[in-house]
Amino acid sequence: MSNFEQKIEEALAAPQNQGEMPDADSVGTVGSPDCGDMMRMWLKFSEKDGKKVIDRASFQAFGCQTAIAVASIATQLLKGKTAEEARSLSAQDLAGDLGTLPPMKIHCGQLVEGALRNALDPEGIEENQNKSGAGTLLGEINNSKPSAIRIVPL
Ligand code: FES
Repeated sequence: MSNFEQKIEEALAAPQNQGEMPDADSVGTVGSPDCGDMMRMWLKFSEKDGKKVIDRASFQAFGCQTAIAVASIATQLLKGKTAEEARSLSAQDLAGDLGTLPPMKIHCGQLVEGALRNALDPEGIEENQNKSGAGTLLGEINNSKPSAIRIVPL
């Protein structure tokens, strides 16, 4: 087992912040044009030292193990960040301690990044979707309510 796979396994042993957040301030959903998987992220903001920061983040995914592991780590990393700080994080940043995402798994991290960006800038969803090529999935995603985690092999 590679070091990356080992870390994925550790992250999946106790995934954090899964599930819908009923009192969220914003939500973002995205679908991957590469694999058809989907990710939804909720954000709750609070005021700290005069700044609006992310107090909590949660996610639901129809996705692979890497996407779920990155989302679990990302929702922990986001705590305390301003929207501007969160917006500057790349898929690789959001993977945190998982280390460098293998080329085949970069789009899994980008699924998390996309859901985050759409939660931060909900008015930009349509534009973002069209840019990412995932526009055809948007209607389907918005009409679905992910309620379970589907884990597929790495
Ligand atoms: Fe689809 Fe990882 S998000 S294969």
